[in-house]
Amino acid sequence: MELFDAIKGRRSIRKFKDAPVKDSDIVAIIDVARKAPSPGNSQPWHFIIVKNKPLMKQLAEAVRKATDQLIGWSKDEKTKKKLEGYKKSYYTLFENAPVTIVVLTEPYISDTEIILKEQSFNQEEILLRRPLPGLQGVSAAIQNLILAAHALGYGTCWMTGPIIAVHEIIKILNINPSKYPVALIPIGIPDESPAERPRKGIEEIMTIIK
Ligand SMILES: Cc1cc2nc3c(=O)[nH]c(=O)nc-3n(C[C@H](O)[C@H](O)[C@H](O)COP(=O)(O)O)c2cc1C
Repeated sequence: MELFDAIKGRRSIRKFKDAPVKDSDIVAIIDVARKAPSPGNSQPWHFIIVKNKPLMKQLAEAVRKATDQLIGWSKDEKTKKKLEGYKKSYYTLFENAPVTIVVLTEPYISDTEIILKEQSFNQEEILLRRPLPGLQGVSAAIQNLILAAHALGYGTCWMTGPIIAVHEIIKILNINPSKYPVALIPIGIPDESPAERPRKGIEEIMTIIK
């Protein structure tokens, strides 16, 4: 598939057919995810491929529990209602996919950040001067991953909602303490073909300085 077609044709897929994802396709997808750029070529990523259905249900249950806690904390009825909706699908839909890829990253601490910390800059100022380069790297890998999956005929959904249950996810998947999950990506053969979601106009998002 041509690159521009892959970028334009990809959609977030939230309904999957009960059909397997080939192991060789998963390997091909991860192979190109790792070609993404990263700060200092640190490659701050790791991918856990979850094919075990009971484990996936356990993860979804943990997300539901964490969302319930959030609902309990919320003081606003409208927000509570929205979160109830998220609990049913937006945060948990991965449990209905044949495979979920859990994307891990690791802290990326540059010399610059160390110097800024030594100079007692606050976290907000450090974030402005070093806008999460590690997270930007792993995000580039995720974008490669979802585009490659689409090119092979699979649907995906980049999900950060489930990370509300980060500590439970770490425990359930026995994740090495040096790493932490940043996204869940369900993958499977699409069972829906959603229309393109609206995008801001080019003139709204682009400024040319001559
Ligand atoms: C960082 C990030 C986090 C997202 N988290 C979720 C999520 O938790 N659940 C979900 O259903 N979709 C999630 N999405 C998908 C967005 O809702 C979707 O990309 C957006 O509405 C545009 O639709 P499209 O991907 O079909 O173009 C996320 C996307 C990104 C990039």
